[in-house]
Amino acid sequence: MKALVLAGGSGTRLRPLSHAIPKQLIPVAGKPVLVHCLENIAAIGVTEVGIIVGDRGDEMRAVLGDGSALGLRITYIRQLAPLGLAHCVQLAQDFLGDDDFVMYLGDNILAGDGISGIAAEFAEYRPAAHILLTKVANPREYGVAELDGHGRVVALAEKPAQPRSDLALTGVYFFTRAIHQAVRAISPSARGELEITDAIAWLLADGQRIRATQFHGYWKDTGKIDDLLECHRVLMGHRRGDVRGSVDAVSLVSGDVVVEPGAQIIESIVTGPAVIGAGSVVRGSRIGPYTALGSGCTLVDAGIEHSIVLDGVSVQNVRGIYGSLIGREAAVCSAVDDGHRRLVIGDHSTVEVA
Ligand code: TTP
Repeated sequence: MKALVLAGGSGTRLRPLSHAIPKQLIPVAGKPVLVHCLENIAAIGVTEVGIIVGDRGDEMRAVLGDGSALGLRITYIRQLAPLGLAHCVQLAQDFLGDDDFVMYLGDNILAGDGISGIAAEFAEYRPAAHILLTKVANPREYGVAELDGHGRVVALAEKPAQPRSDLALTGVYFFTRAIHQAVRAISPSARGELEITDAIAWLLADGQRIRATQFHGYWKDTGKIDDLLECHRVLMGHRRGDVRGSVDAVSLVSGDVVVEPGAQIIESIVTGPAVIGAGSVVRGSRIGPYTALGSGCTLVDAGIEHSIVLDGVSVQNVRGIYGSLIGREAAVCSAVDDGHRRLVIGDHSTVEVA
């Protein structure tokens, strides 16, 4: 069995951050989203992974390389434009050959027991497609499956105006080679994409077996800022503390706090779960809970909780930062006391000023 991970796309819902960093590389609980995906794939014993990349492939390669650090062999497959999830399967046909494969959306996180139970079920029954479903409050925003009284899939619809159930497809699918005929047979949807939901519906209409399993673990599509932060909060709750940097005698570090090598905590209070990235300096500040700082950050007289802070950020003299996502090398500081607030912020940014 192989894996196909989808890490192209445009990431419009995660602007402005996605201008600077592909959304699949944004760290959640201190680790890029894509690494969370690849760890789940490695855990089911798959080693051959194709990753669909758009024009940010070089950044993916710089982080993941050939995959050997994760016990994987990665092949990068270039997609010139985000023409849909089923288009990705078309592009990967040479890589996939006749093998069964798991398709994994590179911006989705599944926590808890991972996907090993479902992988085993797929290997046993080998339906043309095996989908993972989860109950959602807002099915209009997802691909939705309708089941009969025996749990068999009877219909599928992508973002339906009138959903027939509250069971959404998560971003993980298992396929046999039957899917290749389906992705060639379908036409683009109203939004101009080749939808994987339509390809699975095609298999269903063709009389092929589709299995569905309800996923009871934690699942999140991290494509929007609020979902990304919520996912971060949940995954931070699973991190164990490990202090390898320095903490001075007057600082108070409590709960599960990771202090990476070279990081310094001086005259500060750090409440876990929290990650202080390598080489970061925290002085006179209050950090956490549910906060991860990247590497090389400088926080002086700062207060921040429930937030993701990327590498090289500086925060000085600003407290009360909450539920925030701060991009690489950004600086947050207090206003010069002349009654003005000076902002130098990129396109599509959001700043809330009290
Ligand atoms: P989406 O989140 O559905 O699409 P997107 O990345 O374009 O985001 P937005 O709607 O905010 O603009 O994509 C799910 C995953 O699949 C994500 O990791 C990107 C990837 N993808 C591709 O690799 N190729 C594609 O053609 C599409 C549509 C998505």
